[in-house]
Amino acid sequence: PAERTLVLVKPDGVARGLTGEVLRRVEAKGYRIVALEMRTADDALLAEHYAEHQGKPFFAPLVEFMRSGPVVAAVVEGGRVIEGFRSLAGTTEPTGAAPGTIRGDLGRDWGTSVVQNLVHGSDSPESAAREIGLWFPAL
Ligand code: CMP
Repeated sequence: PAERTLVLVKPDGVARGLTGEVLRRVEAKGYRIVALEMRTADDALLAEHYAEHQGKPFFAPLVEFMRSGPVVAAVVEGGRVIEGFRSLAGTTEPTGAAPGTIRGDLGRDWGTSVVQNLVHGSDSPESAAREIGLWFPAL
């Protein structure tokens, strides 16, 4: 049965003109884009999206970064796509992400933070359902 995940091209990815490259890799893998929208997220949406990170030291910089410019949100469908997109994305920190992954090939580390890592992908079926509901309430 097809699974769905929420993919975000974060503000750094959009600003660097990498939206098409990210979506190209998603489609090349055989996944289907079933919803797609560019928007600038507000604090309320981001507080819910990142609820599990509230209280962590990087929470405030993360939210500040995520609202700093438009993001491209997509619902992506395919077999084991939650795990598959995280594999395409690579590890959270771009420096250590494997070549061949989005973060490994395209991500930059700016020294102190791994906040700016180009993309987000849901980490579990529960997160995917919750995040898709937040970003695409009509789905
Ligand atoms: P994401 O997949 O969107 O989920 C949480 C985000 O928090 C993560 O990608 C990074 O952008 C950021 N993040 C995770 N861990 C850290 C950390 N240790 N320091 C700063 N930012 C982090």
